[in-house]
Amino acid sequence: MCIACDTKTLHAESSDEFGERYIQILNHGALAVMISIGHRSGLFAAMRRTGPATSQGIAEAAGLNERYVREWLGAMICGGIATCDETGSVFSLIPAASSALTGSDGAENLAYLAQYVAMMGSVEDKVIRCFHNGGGVPYSEFPRFHEVMAQDSAQTVVGALFDHILPLVPGLSLALHNGIDVLDVGCGCGKALLALAERFPNSRFTGWDLSTEATRAAAAEAGSLGLTNVRFEARDLTDFHHSAPPAAFDLITAFDAIHDQARPDHVLAGIRRALRPDGLFLMQDIGASSNVAENTGHLIGTLLYSLSCTHCMTVSLAQGGLGVGAMWGETMTREFLNNAGFRQIERHTLPHDIQNYYYLVKP
Ligand SMILES: C[S@@+](CC[C@H](N)C(=O)[O-])C[C@H]1O[C@@H](n2cnc3c(N)ncnc32)[C@H](O)[C@@H]1O
Repeated sequence: MCIACDTKTLHAESSDEFGERYIQILNHGALAVMISIGHRSGLFAAMRRTGPATSQGIAEAAGLNERYVREWLGAMICGGIATCDETGSVFSLIPAASSALTGSDGAENLAYLAQYVAMMGSVEDKVIRCFHNGGGVPYSEFPRFHEVMAQDSAQTVVGALFDHILPLVPGLSLALHNGIDVLDVGCGCGKALLALAERFPNSRFTGWDLSTEATRAAAAEAGSLGLTNVRFEARDLTDFHHSAPPAAFDLITAFDAIHDQARPDHVLAGIRRALRPDGLFLMQDIGASSNVAENTGHLIGTLLYSLSCTHCMTVSLAQGGLGVGAMWGETMTREFLNNAGFRQIERHTLPHDIQNYYYLVKP
């Protein structure tokens, strides 16, 4: 639900109207957690395979306990994700949900997104403690974060990399084809870099990220793909303004990774230092205004501020960082880029990505 109401409409809302809206809020919040369970347990995939089936049939297809599956199906029926026959015993996914939540019809499978809602709930106690005492919740308290982020990256970045993202920069694909040095900052599990390294064997790729778990997974995948032109390393980039190798890269990328750094200012200054004079910094980061009043109509503003509060901002604060938050917005992003010594900043949007801006940045 998009709660994109203007101030006047909201102030005129009656208690009954708010009550109805609140019920929807509760229903949709609960449904998101159940969608996450359906995705992770393989229930959506099983329902896609079985077609119309009983709870027993679906449970068997998914290899799960029937009693739990039947209760989960209740939520799917009431939530409008599935339908059942009159006896309430034969269940099917509605076609649009099958498409969006299993990727049938060749569509993008968007079910992974609901995992973020479940993740927020999993750290509630720790976040509340920070509301009282300040500080942050560290990455170690989010055991599934890198796994979910890798699924996210595979869809939003890798899926659009060659047809939409690289073409933002005329000549970039050719330069990559000929061979350049590329760094991905905050590379996570390295999905974008692995795809680039596979496509452009003449270029050399480096991925740095705080997480040992994520960079190990990335290196293992590079090994299993037989890639020799990409390397991943666990590195804390908090002091990147000092530690960045000077003029070492032609292209530096950061996919959804600057705002949740401990020190985005230091990282950006390091990127400036590590870029060659005619180099390019390609930065994907959350698309929003730095003024919350201008974000009231943001299609996923509620979700993004919530994710920021329970993840992006808090992991930065946990490192003693600035905690700029996911919704730091374009004005603040430009300020940080300017302070890091960047003067040419172009901002693009891409139709496949309702969440991010794409900044093409040069010294
Ligand atoms: C939102 S994730 C994006 C990951 C990856 N770019 C992707 O699209 O899948 C942000 C990444 O920044 C990394 N990060 C956070 N603080 C960092 C720090 N101080 N030094 C290096 N990396 C850091 C996290 O480990 C995480 O992988």
